[in-house]
Amino acid sequence: MPVGSFYGYATGIVGLRLFPNPQFDAAAAARWDPARYYNDPTYYYSKELVRPYRVGMSCAFCHVGPDPTRPPADPEHPKWENLNNSVGAQYFWVDRIFDWKADPGSYVYQMFHTSRPGSLDTSLVSTDNINNPRTMNAIYNLGPRLEQATRFGKETLGPGSDNNKQLNDYVPPGDPLTKFFVPPNTVYSPRVLKDGSDSVGALGALNRVYLNIHFNALVGGKTVTPIEIATARKNSSYWEATEAQTVNLARFFLRAATPHKLSAAPDGAKYFNNGNANDTAYVARVNNGKVIFADNCARCHSSKLPAPDSPKQIMEAQGCAGPNYLKCWDEYWQWTMSDEFKTKMRAIVIAPDFLDNNYLSAEHRVPVTLLQTNACSPLATNTTFLRRLTKIYPPWDQ
Ligand code: HEC
Ligand code: HEC
Repeated sequence: MPVGSFYGYATGIVGLRLFPNPQFDAAAAARWDPARYYNDPTYYYSKELVRPYRVGMSCAFCHVGPDPTRPPADPEHPKWENLNNSVGAQYFWVDRIFDWKADPGSYVYQMFHTSRPGSLDTSLVSTDNINNPRTMNAIYNLGPRLEQATRFGKETLGPGSDNNKQLNDYVPPGDPLTKFFVPPNTVYSPRVLKDGSDSVGALGALNRVYLNIHFNALVGGKTVTPIEIATARKNSSYWEATEAQTVNLARFFLRAATPHKLSAAPDGAKYFNNGNANDTAYVARVNNGKVIFADNCARCHSSKLPAPDSPKQIMEAQGCAGPNYLKCWDEYWQWTMSDEFKTKMRAIVIAPDFLDNNYLSAEHRVPVTLLQTNACSPLATNTTFLRRLTKIYPPWDQ
């Protein structure tokens, strides 16, 4: 294997690698002029220009960021130990990266400029005509999130999407990781992504990244057509190689995606209790805050929820995907306002182990009509695109 051909060459930018360009032939080499490439717009903007390298992008480009518990001595020169793979890239500014020497009067600039630092629209390239930049949020506590999948993430795979690999394909029978799929087509899927997509199971969620981000650039106006898993398997050794490796990626996330705690940061202790554990007035305020959190936030923001005295559909039906979703949600919502829920929830929040293995999200689908946040997120076709990609037609499409 020639040097650089497999993992490529370093670019100096985390997540980007250079690979030899197979189209860089003798004629292209004769035309190549590195000085003009940097200095002459008529040269570097030419669409006929064949560059010696292709640029490969890995997950790290968007998901590696400064580790909050290990800040670098010099922010301009971080070392590897100052970076973390699951924290997300908060300093990733799409408009600066993709629109060099931007013209503020251009459409492209205006579109990219709506992305706040650290966010990006994952259906930007295969555009769905919805502008939907979202943070690459930290991938923490995957274990507890998988547990939530068995509570709220029940989905039925449709024709085509049942082709997705499941963890059961890789781990021995009886392994705890087998409980997220029941053949032939029931999957318990964590609510990965902010629109609660990825209803095909954890591995499908990871596999699709290679496709939805590396699509032909469209400025819209064209329907995105499905790529079926069966077709990808038949024609693409890249797809096959990807599928073969994602189980290890999932294992890596399970093990490595641990939270960054303020207590572990340098001087972290001084931010707790006003820096003084004996400040009783301050402790009382913190405890009051826990009660407020239990009463108002925990019903959506806790992996640990109370068990109801009388059955609730959202738990019985494991998330209520399907036609009765709103009715089912409303029953849960009413319950969260009851004394029973609040009493039990307060006890959970006040318990000293509340934050252990807690993703601080219940990972059930929350109606946007209730939340009244930016509707682009749940409307975005990151989800429907994914469904097309693998031919997934969940019940609410029918
Ligand atoms: C071009 C930037 C980019 C690249 C490259 C990228 N991601 Fe992401 N990723 C994002 C964004 C943006 C989100 C959040 C999208 C949302 O929630 O709507 C995200 C979300 C995720 C999530 C869900 C996080 C959560 O907690 O819900 C996972 C898991 C993930 N990416 C894995 C990967 C993997 C694995 C790769 C490489 C195969 C990858 N990403 C490559 C931008 C990227
Ligand atoms: C009805 C369910 C619900 C309730 C109640 C709720 N939230 Fe949220 N919260 C959400 C959802 C859903 C999101 C993600 C919204 C989005 O990304 O568009 C969110 C996002 C957040 C975020 C941003 C998280 C991030 O990673 O970017 C914070 C912080 C937050 N909520 C805090 C709170 C607090 C504090 C309370 C209580 C005062 C609360 N929430 C009550 C559903 C809820």
